[in-house]
Amino acid sequence: MKIIHLSDTHINPETLNKIDTQQRFKLALNHIRDNHSNADILIITGDLTAFGDDESYQIFNKTLKEAILPDHLYPKLILGNHDDRENFKKNFPNIKIDQNGFVQYSLNFGDKTFIFLDTNLSGTHAGHLCEKRQTWLIETLKKEQENKIYLFMHHNPLALGQIKSDALGLVQRNEFKKILLQFQNSIQHIFFGHQHITSSGKYLGITFSSPRSTWQPLVPNFSEKFRLGKADTDPNYNVILITEDSLIVHTEDFLKTKVNWFEGE
Ligand SMILES: [Fe+2]
Ligand SMILES: [Fe+2]
Repeated sequence: MKIIHLSDTHINPETLNKIDTQQRFKLALNHIRDNHSNADILIITGDLTAFGDDESYQIFNKTLKEAILPDHLYPKLILGNHDDRENFKKNFPNIKIDQNGFVQYSLNFGDKTFIFLDTNLSGTHAGHLCEKRQTWLIETLKKEQENKIYLFMHHNPLALGQIKSDALGLVQRNEFKKILLQFQNSIQHIFFGHQHITSSGKYLGITFSSPRSTWQPLVPNFSEKFRLGKADTDPNYNVILITEDSLIVHTEDFLKTKVNWFEGE
C-alpha cells in the first residue's frame, strides 16, 4: 500500500510571509499526479486554510479540481487549528461527521482501518480531543481492533522536543495516552501535521511521522525557550509504503523537480 501524506496547506487569497500558498499547493498536487498516481490514498491532515474563511476553502477546492488527480486520489481531509469547522462543512458537504458533528470518520482497506480525528477547538491553536471525541475514538477502536489501525490527526499527540515549548500540541495528552495504551497492539502508526517539521519516531510502542507544510516549513528547536524557527527551507510531503512486515516513510521535496535518475546501476 502506498499512502501520500500532505499537510498544512494554509490556503489564503493573498500571499503569506511572502509565500504563495496556492502555488505551492498546486506544485505539490502536480508532483503527486506526475509521480504517485499509483498511490492508494491521499490524506491532508489539516490547516487546509490559513484563516478558515469561505473564500480560502473555495480556492482550495478549485486548486484540487484543476490538478486533475485520478478519482481515487481525491484527498481525505481533516481539520487543523487554522480551519473553521462550519465553513469547512459548507464547502465539503459530503465529508463524514460523527454523531456530535465533529469531522471524525473511519475507512476500511481490507485488514487496515484508517481513523481520522478532529482536534480543532475554535479560538485556540492548541489541539483538543474533548470527552465526546474521545468516546467516539474508543468506540471506533473497539469496533476495529482486529484490524491494523492507522490514526490521522492534525496536532502532535506528544511534545516533539521540550514539553515547555510545546504549548500548541494536544492538550488532552494524558487521556490520549491512555487510549493509545489500551489499543497499542492494534494501532500501527500515527500521522500528524501542525508543527511544519519532518518528524518520526516511536511513542508507547507506536511509530509516528509528520511532514512539513506545503506552505511554510519550519525548523525544530531543542530548547525550552523557542518552539520553532523560520528559514528558507524546502516544503515537502510524505510517501508511506506499507507491506506485510514494514512501514517506510519517505519525504518528497516537491520543489526539486530536476532529478538525474540513475539508469542501469
Ligand atoms: Fe499549520
Ligand atoms: Fe496547525
